[in-house]
Amino acid sequence: MPRDGSIINTIGDTPLVELKNLDTGVCRLFVKLENQNPTGSIKDRIGLSMVEAAERDGKIEPGGTLIEATAGNTGLGLALVAAQKGYRLILVIPDKMAQEKILHLRSLGAEVRITRSDVGKGHPEYYQDIAAHLNRELPGSFYVDQFANPANPLAHEATTGPEIWAQMDHMLDAVVVGVGSGGTLTGLSRYFARVAPHVEMLLADPQGSVLADVVRTGKIQKEAGSWLIEGIGEDFVPPNCDLSRVRTAYEISDAESFATAREVLRREGILGGSSTGTLVAAALRYCREQRAPKRVVTFVCDSGNKYLTKMYNDYWMFEQGLLEPPPQGNLVDLIVRRYREGGAVTLGTGDSLLQAYRRMKLFDVSQVPVMEGDRVVGIIDESDLLLHVHADPARFGDPVRTAMVTSLETIAPDAPVSALLPIFQRDHVAIVADNAGFVGLITKIDLINYLRKQLG
Ligand SMILES: Cc1ncc(COP(=O)(O)O)c(C=O)c1O
Repeated sequence: MPRDGSIINTIGDTPLVELKNLDTGVCRLFVKLENQNPTGSIKDRIGLSMVEAAERDGKIEPGGTLIEATAGNTGLGLALVAAQKGYRLILVIPDKMAQEKILHLRSLGAEVRITRSDVGKGHPEYYQDIAAHLNRELPGSFYVDQFANPANPLAHEATTGPEIWAQMDHMLDAVVVGVGSGGTLTGLSRYFARVAPHVEMLLADPQGSVLADVVRTGKIQKEAGSWLIEGIGEDFVPPNCDLSRVRTAYEISDAESFATAREVLRREGILGGSSTGTLVAAALRYCREQRAPKRVVTFVCDSGNKYLTKMYNDYWMFEQGLLEPPPQGNLVDLIVRRYREGGAVTLGTGDSLLQAYRRMKLFDVSQVPVMEGDRVVGIIDESDLLLHVHADPARFGDPVRTAMVTSLETIAPDAPVSALLPIFQRDHVAIVADNAGFVGLITKIDLINYLRKQLG
């Protein structure tokens, strides 16, 4: 099907920029901005190439159905191309993916089936097995299968590689990649093996993935763990993943990945996704290890827009145990939103219930302390609000003081953690206050998060 003048013609030809404000030792580090593809990721390239290869090979009829198992970005690339070319698309997605990706997919017209992310290959609810099953059930459907589809690495061999080589003026020493399906790695390996075999291929792998170990030992020796970085890392070596040109692999933790992605935004102004942190962290390690100056390329594989509520959100980072303010050794350590740091969500007694409602929605909290000066004089939660307005929605205009609860459970910062339990058993939240006034709230989920973090 022709695609002249379509949005899909804007896939690829992404800019390359140098990271100027990070410590790259004696090296120069460049990033290819794949976040500037139309759906915001490197996977638009393979969405296009896999669909067009299937068209060429007669594997899809006009108006036919495409099926894919994907953790998100490939789905977006396919959804864009499918919508433009008039195909139906069914995507099977594990349930750890960012909400924003799923909303984006559905808005593009894809049908999304969510499945479990805590089961592995061979389990009937494993996302790739479900996709294969759907493919068998739906006659004439085409299982795209980025993990084995040769048009995936081909896209990178034919476009990403030549673009990098030209943008670096044919002066390049190393490329740092992550592996999801292995398409990027394999395509670039093939391209550079042909045009510039001296270019080193380096792997950036999330801690928990098995791939770095495979690079070192040649086989899968350890069980996969879990990681929060999206889009890269594997519990198996996909058919499309050729690791043979990779000599060095760097394992990067979630914490280092997120911290690096945040630094890339702060210092370089580039809003990358979580894997950008993994790739840049690995590239920085490589750069700093070098004695001779090298020219190194890595990727901003997707846009950080999809992760604003996660890794770019201090409260989410705090809840995950990834951003720890200096410990105080008391109950303050359990408080996510601290009043004196300006983090607490509060209301005044004269604010309206509509304001209370908006604040609960905006900050995704279900109860809000009501203040007079630095003192908490009440708490309002969803049920207080509901009970007050249910008979007459005009009462959203009433002041918060008319609906708040004033029997409060106050606790000192140096009280033991065990003192929280009786408060929660009475179905209250704990208001932490000292002589100077309000410090912050502790809810049941804060205590649960705190206990979970003790697991390490
Ligand atoms: C978000 C994201 N998606 C995909 C990829 C590459 O995946 P693949 O191995 O499937 O080409 C990367 C690589 O870094 C990535 O960061």
